Amino acid sequence: MVPFFRKHSNVLYSLFFGTIVALFSGCELLGDDPTPGIGDVEVIAYDQHIQSIFDNRCTSCHGANSPDSGLRLDGWTFLIQGSDFGEAIIPFSSIDSRLVKLLDPIGSIQHPADVGKEKLSEDEFGLLKRWIDEGAIGPLGSSPFASSLNLLYVAHDSEPVISIIDTDAWIVIRRVHLEDYGFSERARAHHIAVEPDGSIWYVSVGSPEPTDAEGVVKFNRQNQKLGQFETPNPGLLALHPTQDVLYVSRNLNTSEPRSLVELRRSDMLALEIPTTFAGTHALAIRPFGDFLFSSSVDVDQMVIVDLSSLEVRFFDIGGVKHGFGQFSISPSGDRMWGTGMESNTVTLFDISNPFGVVQRQSLNVGGSPLDLTYLPDASKVYVTIPNANKIVVLNANLDIVERNITHAAIQGPMGVSVSSNGQHIFVSNRNTSGIYPARHVFPGQTNPGTIVVVDSSTDTVVKVIEVGKGAALIGSRVVVPTFSN
Ligand code: HEC
Repeated sequence: MVPFFRKHSNVLYSLFFGTIVALFSGCELLGDDPTPGIGDVEVIAYDQHIQSIFDNRCTSCHGANSPDSGLRLDGWTFLIQGSDFGEAIIPFSSIDSRLVKLLDPIGSIQHPADVGKEKLSEDEFGLLKRWIDEGAIGPLGSSPFASSLNLLYVAHDSEPVISIIDTDAWIVIRRVHLEDYGFSERARAHHIAVEPDGSIWYVSVGSPEPTDAEGVVKFNRQNQKLGQFETPNPGLLALHPTQDVLYVSRNLNTSEPRSLVELRRSDMLALEIPTTFAGTHALAIRPFGDFLFSSSVDVDQMVIVDLSSLEVRFFDIGGVKHGFGQFSISPSGDRMWGTGMESNTVTLFDISNPFGVVQRQSLNVGGSPLDLTYLPDASKVYVTIPNANKIVVLNANLDIVERNITHAAIQGPMGVSVSSNGQHIFVSNRNTSGIYPARHVFPGQTNPGTIVVVDSSTDTVVKVIEVGKGAALIGSRVVVPTFSN
């Protein structure tokens, strides 16, 4: 152990780098300009303008009685629930909406209604698109899922997009395009953290091009950008359980800068915590909020930060080279598992005395384990194994592998997150192999990523949600620990 002291007073919050960009130009307010040539409709009224198109053109097949694909178009509340396979529209994003991609009168995709029948007129199609881009407002004047509380944010590593899933409805309800917020087409979301009450979310955004903007962006529930802190190669995010602070590690495969970032959530001002080593990725905070753990992928060292004094110590990780991708700490705060991306093992640490970490056993799980999470009741730990297309379930009482979960849609699993009641586990899958077949194959959009929903009482897959290409790390509302002291 190498003690290394640093005091709060030595470090000033770097006002210079913090930028508050209170731009209320968010997704929910954006919308394409009205498509020209759709007649005199100034304000679209759902029943009059939209439902009438569905009634004339769609409900013969998508009505109340055995609707095709389970999609009912005989009312707004049915339309927004989507089909048996997923969402039909994504409010504010006609370009991402299946209904638009399938029904495009000049598109090449054949939808059954087109076969032997006339396609939608350009006016009808333009009106549907405009209605979606204005937020798919229903008869009562609100957008679908505008006040959903349980949301899962999905970073995509092959396009500058974040998908948002309603984890009660299990469909995609929004798509946030980073280019709408001043980022380049090369920008990629890396990780997402969400406030416990769901009101605010943060995303780390990187780019392979050093001159592009990179940093951590703060959004509200309506996807309006509230602030941004610029920092190179931001990686994983961890919210402090009780204080106004967010910690940021570095992206994998990057050596600089050699620091973690401590960000004040309220104003996005930051403080850097030097780590001396490169490749700091894994990041976890004890549930009491007293200590932070991170580690280097390069040198297999762990950094432990006392968050009240900011005293920093290092711990040399033993055995073969692990290259920890992520840590997950038990709800009681005394045990921590880490994913050894290079050792193909998961390793247990006793952290009951944080500055006196004890390394315990490693379990061989194969396939370069990446992300992991404890269940809130501490009984199990779920681990994604991207290179072996499986989820490993650890029995966290016996410290053994309890079972492997495999499924046609578990292809290159990446991020894992748990619902706040512990009932469901959400796992993102990149599906680059394309083994999981797409509902529809649109040009340039083959091999969709998925979110697989696992029921934690049976460890079986209960739902597969198609979510677009390159589904990578994910984030949902953090579960606030309750203490009985
Ligand atoms: C002649 C029957 C018929 C009519 C009319 C029809 N559909 Fe369909 N629709 C189908 C069938 C069959 C499928 C399933 C095959 C597929 O997905 O390609 C389908 C699938 C869909 C899907 C994809 C569902 C999913 O999640 O995979 C959407 C969206 C859709 N229809 C929208 C519409 C709209 C909007 C209209 C009216 C403009 C319409 N349909 C009219 C038969 C019809």
